[in-house]
Amino acid sequence: MSNLIIEDHQDVTVIKMNRPKVLNALNRATLEELLFFLQVTAPKENVRALILTGEGEKAFIAGADIKEMHAMTHLQMLEFCTLGQSITEALCEAQFLTIAAVNGYALGGGLEMALACDFIYASQSAKLGLPEVTLGIIPGFGGTQRLSRAVGTRLAKEMIMSGLTINAERAYEIGIVNHISRDENLMNDSFAAAAKIISHPNTAVVQAKNAINTGYHLGLKEALELERNMCAVCFATSERSEGMKNFLNKKGSS
Ligand code: COA
Repeated sequence: MSNLIIEDHQDVTVIKMNRPKVLNALNRATLEELLFFLQVTAPKENVRALILTGEGEKAFIAGADIKEMHAMTHLQMLEFCTLGQSITEALCEAQFLTIAAVNGYALGGGLEMALACDFIYASQSAKLGLPEVTLGIIPGFGGTQRLSRAVGTRLAKEMIMSGLTINAERAYEIGIVNHISRDENLMNDSFAAAAKIISHPNTAVVQAKNAINTGYHLGLKEALELERNMCAVCFATSERSEGMKNFLNKKGSS
């Protein structure tokens, strides 16, 4: 798997996109490796958190590989986008925490992947954008839909139709980025965020993510019904009874 560097840090897996010479541009082989990890490896290995980042100093991912894309037929492009969307969907639906640690350029497919993660932590020098229109195409890995759901259609249109690249501060202001780190602290800060979340009972963390993701696409009434059912699912776990018992025991002894 030479296009990805996969590191296990107990419950946290780090995947580094490993094509630094082309700023980690996404070719088909890289996408296939990533999809295999998300669909086959991660469920088998009970991953609790994934941090996605880029190898090298300059880029998280500078988009789809334009050299490879340039030679595609339009049917191959459709397949390529389907593959890209399978990954952004798999990231979004992953039954574990996903954090994009954006360490430089997150353009095109790079920003689309980051937007599919639960959190985006960005370095101070990060640059984010969907510049596809400058190449005569539009985002095809979910960007038009996820960016507009994240920031509203007006801002999404501005960014996508003008191919605008924004810095980390602006991305934080408009709510794409959760946290900005000094460049040298990005990975430590991402690990700290992951560690805090996975210290909580797993079913509760995962059901919270599922309730937000699924409920977001429903009407309020249906979403509330979903929420109370998911809350009841958490209630049935031993982690819940242990958690509540521990709280009450602490109260009793103080
Ligand atoms: N696809 C293929 N190769 C890419 C790439 C991409 N998306 N982005 C960068 N590269 C390659 C460059 O061709 C260059 O390779 P070379 O050294 O063999 O010439 C290398 O990565 C370094 O990039 P370079 O353009 O020299 O760096 P820079 O600092 O001058 O500019 C960017 C950085 C990110 C602004 C610029 O590379 C860029 O605009 N990339 C394309 C971004 C894009 O349009 N993405 C959406 C694709 S749908």
